[in-house]
Amino acid sequence: MGTTGAVGAQTIKKSTVEKNAGEFMIEINKIHNLDCIKAIKLIDDESVDLIITDPPYNIGQENKRTKVGNVIMTNKEAWGEWDDYEPAEFELFFTNYLKECFRILKREGVMYCFSARKDNGFYIHKAVDIGFTYLNSLAIVKDNPLPHFAKTNFRSAFELCFYVCKGDKPKTFNFISQQECVNVYRYLIGIKDTEHPTEKPLNFFRRLIKISSNEGDLVFDGFMGSGTTAVASKQLNRNFIGFEINESYLAMANKRLSQNTLFNVQRFHDNDFINLWLNFGLYVGVCIVIVISLFYGIMQRKNYVKNKNG
Ligand SMILES: C[S@@+](CC[C@H](N)C(=O)[O-])C[C@H]1O[C@@H](n2cnc3c(N)ncnc32)[C@H](O)[C@@H]1O
Repeated sequence: MGTTGAVGAQTIKKSTVEKNAGEFMIEINKIHNLDCIKAIKLIDDESVDLIITDPPYNIGQENKRTKVGNVIMTNKEAWGEWDDYEPAEFELFFTNYLKECFRILKREGVMYCFSARKDNGFYIHKAVDIGFTYLNSLAIVKDNPLPHFAKTNFRSAFELCFYVCKGDKPKTFNFISQQECVNVYRYLIGIKDTEHPTEKPLNFFRRLIKISSNEGDLVFDGFMGSGTTAVASKQLNRNFIGFEINESYLAMANKRLSQNTLFNVQRFHDNDFINLWLNFGLYVGVCIVIVISLFYGIMQRKNYVKNKNG
């Protein structure tokens, strides 16, 4: 697959795999509305530089609550059928996906793969059996987790992803700073771009992409959801390719990809806490300007009335 060229270039892969009796062309820098488990087979061996992926956790059936927009609902209501497999079916689905990821990844390329907390160790072992080398586990930590409504267990405040390599050591590890090259990322839930129920923090994905790839590299995600991997790749001049089976999530992702405002293209800072304070400072600044303008207007008006009368 052609992986070079600036982002936005219409580089395409001509696959020999046939779909609907025709030659199937899979375009990069596009999220395809396809079932990842079938469509990943269209991607050439050892053609992808980096995989950042967030497959279903298969916890849709659990009687837990989550927040979508401002509404609290059960996982099942929030995530529906895409997160509700029979356990054996899910194991097969996840394992086949890991095998395909290993196949499409270049030698010494790396993969960051999220999974449910209870499954993380299990799928690390699966990945190692397939041939990956385990490098680390990373946690994203919510500093404002939802309350535990039933008060029968701990509040859920972190998610895990494992970091593995096809080979002994990664071909790319840009050690950008001690602060950013730590295996914990803290963030606040509620700072989101879309209504997707499991949108991951964009700045975390930007961090992973900066560390584990270079400009022009190709980043893959088979489960794009709201398009976080694609948006972060685009912002950082990497190419991307990915799949999303749900049309309304795909629409959210495409809308996000097409937005080029200051807030969407380049966040102020790759740290959500600093963003929060910068945004707060911005709003306070705007309020001060409005108050001064009003005050100035009133004073002008008073002077005008005074001059007119006297
Ligand atoms: C955990 S979410 C990914 C969220 C994403 N990381 C984000 O930041 O928005 C998993 C996504 O995979 C999609 N999905 C589930 N099964 C799929 C399949 N077989 N092929 C492609 N997409 C699938 C779901 O619709 C869902 O949007």
